Amino acid sequence: MDKLLITGGNPLNGEIRISGAKNAALPILAATLLADTPSYISNVPHLRDITTMVSLLGRMGVEFIVDEKLNIEANSSNVHTFNAPYEMVKTMRASILVLGPLIARFGKAHVSLPGGCAIGARPVNLHIQGLRAMGADIQVEEGYITAQAKRLHGATLCMDIVTVTGTENLMMAATLAEGVTLIENAAREPEVIDLANCLNSMGAHIEGAGTGTIRIEGVEKLSGTHYSVLPDRIETGTYLVAAAMTGGKVKVKKTDAGLLDAVLLKLLEAGATITRGDDWIELDMQGRRPRAVDIHTSPYPAFPTDMQAQLTAMNTIASGVGMLTETVFENRFMHISELQRMGANIRLEGNTAIINGVESLQAAPVMATDLRASAGLVLAGLVANGETLVDRIYHIDRGYERIEEKLTQLGAQICRSH
Ligand code: EPU
Repeated sequence: MDKLLITGGNPLNGEIRISGAKNAALPILAATLLADTPSYISNVPHLRDITTMVSLLGRMGVEFIVDEKLNIEANSSNVHTFNAPYEMVKTMRASILVLGPLIARFGKAHVSLPGGCAIGARPVNLHIQGLRAMGADIQVEEGYITAQAKRLHGATLCMDIVTVTGTENLMMAATLAEGVTLIENAAREPEVIDLANCLNSMGAHIEGAGTGTIRIEGVEKLSGTHYSVLPDRIETGTYLVAAAMTGGKVKVKKTDAGLLDAVLLKLLEAGATITRGDDWIELDMQGRRPRAVDIHTSPYPAFPTDMQAQLTAMNTIASGVGMLTETVFENRFMHISELQRMGANIRLEGNTAIINGVESLQAAPVMATDLRASAGLVLAGLVANGETLVDRIYHIDRGYERIEEKLTQLGAQICRSH
C-alpha cells in the first residue's frame, strides 16, 4: 500500500496550478448518461474517483475516449446495463449520482445503497424521496435501490437537509421529466452551479442554481456538449493552508478566487496577507506563526466541511486556542487522534474540537482514514519535526492530483513509497 514520507520544516514557496474540481467532474460525468450524442469534458482531474466513475459508466455501455490531457469524450448512445454494483459503490459513494440520470433517460436503475463511511452514516433517503415524488417506483431491498418509471413528472421538492449530491441527482432527473420541478432548500455549492451550467449547455432548462430554489423545466431530450469543469476550491484551499502553516508564500493559479471567500477570511484572520485576481490567489505568511481561528462548518457559502481537517491541522500549531465545530457530518474527526499522536493538544466535546496550539508537532507514523483527514495529516507532516509516514494514502489519491509533485514543486520534502 502506498505511503507518503514527509520531512517537515520547509516553508512552502512558489506557484502551482489547480486541477479541475473532483466534486463537479463526478456529477458532470454521470450527466453524460442523459445525452443521446457524445459529450466532450475537459479540465477533468486525474484522480482515482474519476477512474472509478469512468469504469462504472463504462460497464453500463458508455463509450469513452480519453486523450493525453485527460479530455474525456463520453458517448452514451449504446447504454445497455443500468446497474451500479456494490463492489463499485462501496469504493465511491458518488456512484449514487447515476441513479437520477438512469431513471430519467432509461426508466430503470439498480443501484447499490452506499452505506455508511468514515465520516458518518450518510443516508440517501432524500434522493429516493425526491425521485418517488417525481413518479419513480422505488424498492429498497437487499442493499439495492431498484427504480422504475415511465417518464418522470415535475414536482415540488422541499429538501429537509441541504444535500449536495441529493440536489444534483434530482436536478439531473428533472431535466428529462415532464413539466416543472422546483427544488426548495437546494444546495448552493459552486459544483451544483457547474453541473447546472453543463446540463443547460446540453439543452436543459435550469434556473436558480446557486440559490436555495432551483427551477427545472423538463425537456424531451438532451444532446452532447463541450464543457470545461470548474477549478477545485478545496484543492486550492488546501495548498493555501499549507502555505499559511509553514510560514511560506504560495501563488495558486488556474483557480477561481470567488469560490473561497469563507476560507480566505479565516486565513486573513490567521494573519496571512492575501492578494487575488480572478483566477489566482497569493498567500504570504512572511514566516509568521498563524493565529488560531474558530470555525463552524455549514453548507456553502459558509465554511466547507471539506476544509475542516486542514484548518484543524493549522490550529494545532497556531498561537492561541481555536474552536472548531463540525455540523455537516457527525463523525468527521478521525484525524484528531492521529494529530494527537503527533503532539497536538486537542479536546473533543461533542461535535466541537478545542485546539490549543503547540509550538511544534513531532513526526509519527499516522494513518489516513478518509480523503480530507489525510490532507490534514499531510499538512501536519509538513511542519512536524522529523519524518512523518502517512499510511493508506489511497484516500488522498481519490481527491488530490499528484499531491507529492505539487508539494515538491513548492519546496516540500515529500516522497511516495510503496
Ligand atoms: N443527508 C441525509 N440524507 C440524504 C442526503 C444527505 O441525511 O439523503 C445528510 C448527510 O448524512 C450529511 C448531510 O446531509 O449529514 C450533507 O450531506 P451531502 O448529501 O451534502 O453530502 P454528499 O452529497 O454525500 C458532497 C461531497 C462531499 C462533501 C459534502 C458536503 C461529492 C461527490 N461529495 O457529499 O465531499 O463533504 O457534499 O459538502 O460532491 C470530499 O470531497 O471529500 C467529500 C466528502
